[in-house]
Amino acid sequence: MRTFLVCLWKMTAFQLCPRGPKKKLLLALLVACALSPVLKYVNVVSNVVSDVISPWRNIAFLEEMPDFGEDTSQTKTTGSKQLCPKKAPNLVGVSSINESLVTLEGLIGKYISSRTGGHFKPPECVSRTKTAVIVAYRNRQRHLVVLLNHLIPFLVRQQADFAIFVVEPLPNVTFNRALLMNIGFVEALKTYNFTCFIFHDVDLLPVTDHNLYRCGATPRHMAVSNSKLDNISFDEYAGGVVAVSRDVYQHVNGHSNLYFGWGGEDDDLLYRLQWKHHPMSRYPPAIGRYIALKHADDKGNPVSDIRLALLETAEKRMAEDGLTSLKYKIIHREYKPFYTWIQVDIDMKYYSSMVSKWQQKQH
Ligand code: BGC
Repeated sequence: MRTFLVCLWKMTAFQLCPRGPKKKLLLALLVACALSPVLKYVNVVSNVVSDVISPWRNIAFLEEMPDFGEDTSQTKTTGSKQLCPKKAPNLVGVSSINESLVTLEGLIGKYISSRTGGHFKPPECVSRTKTAVIVAYRNRQRHLVVLLNHLIPFLVRQQADFAIFVVEPLPNVTFNRALLMNIGFVEALKTYNFTCFIFHDVDLLPVTDHNLYRCGATPRHMAVSNSKLDNISFDEYAGGVVAVSRDVYQHVNGHSNLYFGWGGEDDDLLYRLQWKHHPMSRYPPAIGRYIALKHADDKGNPVSDIRLALLETAEKRMAEDGLTSLKYKIIHREYKPFYTWIQVDIDMKYYSSMVSKWQQKQH
């Protein structure tokens, strides 16, 4: 930059710079240089990261991270491979998120190889975690592609042994995020010995790869800070993205199955974990920062008007409402290159009768 400025000064003052094509080239470079702040601005605006990148850029990491307990599920090496290092060498910290990407082509070739169902393992070492990411999904194709584009390289950089499961109800069924998470948990365990489960909203993207998708001794609320919900007190909030080990999830009987429509199911899980003495841990907000992708109102996911009433009986229901009472029918299971897609039918009558039973008990 300095050389260009000096040259520009010389060019205008003394006409000393190269002539002919070289001069044109130099001039073009000078114009590009002058425009670079503008181009940079346009680029940032076109990315979703515009509101987060700068404030979170210079955060200090792993060495200063709270220790939530190592995932002890994977301590042995196999064959000549060593256990992956505690701090993966390729982490980049904050990375940009490109929402305008609408295909997975960028990932094909780079990550596809022979994997099916999106099960990835680091080739160079034995991963410290066996993580299943469960996404309750409906009708958000673009968000799903943006999430996969972001999350797959992110988890590869973390040297995770992982797979992503996308669980979708039939169109006539009211959305029930928690029930779909339970189904994802059960179905994922049928394919592999996952020890860590990340229950993930489709429209939330982690900003820094220092937010490790691993499970410690205690469950962890991952989406501590969210570009859409800046005012939420994170001590009472367990929504968006949560990491729970297989054993802890089974201990609390998973999520409740009864929250059809929006709201309450994440609060219910938080209570279950508290009652069973699994207090939620959290990264500092600078690490647990997520971008929330924008979307219109979900027609198939109306706000639940019984969620507060359900929360009142949450503790009593815990033993019999959850993994132990799960009922569903698999319609499709497809092992796609980057994720496993599971479409399910849900017997609404079965769950409605449970809701009625608890409502009667309440009166
Ligand atoms: C709902 C939760 C939701 C939170 C933040 C609460 O009232 O019960 O499900 O995550 O608000 O939107």
